[in-house]
Amino acid sequence: MSGNSLTITDNRTGKQYDVPIENGTIKAMDLRQIKTADDDFGLMTYDPAFMNTASCKSRITFIDGDKGILEYRGYPIDQLAEQSTYLEVAYLLLHGELPNQMQLSEWIRNITYHTFINENIKKVMDGFHYNAHPMGMFEATLGALSTFYPDAKEIFDADSRWKQIYRLIAKVPTIAAFAFRHRIGMQYAYPDNDLSYEGNFLNMMFKTTELTYKPDPVLEHALTVLFILHADHEQNCSTNAMRNIGSAHTDPFSALGGAAAALYGPLHGGANEMVLRMLNEIGSVEKVPEYIKRVQAGEFRLMGFGHRVYKNYDPRAQIIKQVAYEVFEVTGRDPLLDIALELERIALEDEYFVKRKLYPNVDFYSGIIYQAMRFPVDMFPVLFAIPRTSGWLAQWVELLEDPDQKIARPRQVYLGRRTRDYLPIEQRQTAAADVARTSVV
Ligand code: CMC
Repeated sequence: MSGNSLTITDNRTGKQYDVPIENGTIKAMDLRQIKTADDDFGLMTYDPAFMNTASCKSRITFIDGDKGILEYRGYPIDQLAEQSTYLEVAYLLLHGELPNQMQLSEWIRNITYHTFINENIKKVMDGFHYNAHPMGMFEATLGALSTFYPDAKEIFDADSRWKQIYRLIAKVPTIAAFAFRHRIGMQYAYPDNDLSYEGNFLNMMFKTTELTYKPDPVLEHALTVLFILHADHEQNCSTNAMRNIGSAHTDPFSALGGAAAALYGPLHGGANEMVLRMLNEIGSVEKVPEYIKRVQAGEFRLMGFGHRVYKNYDPRAQIIKQVAYEVFEVTGRDPLLDIALELERIALEDEYFVKRKLYPNVDFYSGIIYQAMRFPVDMFPVLFAIPRTSGWLAQWVELLEDPDQKIARPRQVYLGRRTRDYLPIEQRQTAAADVARTSVV
């Protein structure tokens, strides 16, 4: 019996089993040998929402939720936010190391080369209803792009894989900006490849009649920080979706569309949109205590608070708060900030939130910054998806290169009825409740 193992006694049979412990985990498959009889399927773990299950080994992003630590490839998030650029961070996530000058120049050139989208993709986007949500357009356009690049199916060809990575990182800001312009009925602004990644995105969003758009350096920098903070977050819901879809060897455009759909949900990347709606609903600083009481009563959740992993503080939220002040120097102070500050102050002292370890998360302040920068609320999840693209792709590549991985296929605990004979319709008893339900149309 080795020291690095777990001894399990099955009290149903009295048998003992030794299960090796590796990296602080046991293999769920090692439990399968624990049976009550030869025809018993074997023991499984039950873990809805993956509360205590590692689905992969990863070397990309490290989080210590209790200590509030977030690192990309070992680099602390605050150092990257302070000193790096988004494209450099994207390189780091995908290659594992920071680039030297030559590598960075080549990386930027490769991505910049792919910023334009096929004119027929524009037509796909034109087909959306005038008030289509930009996140819906974003997801669908990613799916549509897969039909334009059949070579993306060559996922085990390294050259092809890199090409799709350049294409995706380059085109997501273009798709995002075009979705926004479609929504407001403005002609599309084409990429300006002389600008930075973030500056070009602002150009495609906000350019009007000027011959050359000049992004405000403070706003461009704010976007850089926000993009870096959102680039990856290990096995969150959308990354899990990316890996799940990717495990079926789907092309990366389709997989990314699926990951974006997961991000869209209000419990995930849709939360910053909900924060803004919540702050607007509260309306004034005086109404904050009453709102907090309603949260405590379980009427609704305080959006932008709480995190599955961070139970001390979200390091991204602290950096973002600082960026908010820099942006307001340029745009003027948003009165919603005062409501947010008061909410944060009361919640951090309140027993309900303290007991449950609920702190502001990344989305609490990002929405206020985006609003000050003139991004409409429904663009917020799209603004999350642009930088997360590099994280999704890094995780996807890691999945494809991991010999432990197979098509993702969870087990279930079946509690439904077992084998019974088909009944002709006239012999079926309809329960009273079913009659009531079907008769109300
Ligand atoms: N407001 C009020 N109560 C909350 C909140 C909240 N925002 N979040 C959790 N709780 C309570 C919850 O009701 C539960 O209380 P009780 O034990 O009495 O039933 C307890 O705290 C634990 O909650 P949980 O749902 O088990 O926690 P979780 O880890 O499953 O959920 C979360 C994490 C982020 C989904 C949740 O905190 C939440 O819904 N927050 C609001 C939405 C939000 O801001 N999402 C953005 C997450 S950060 C960006 C990203 O990475 O996507």
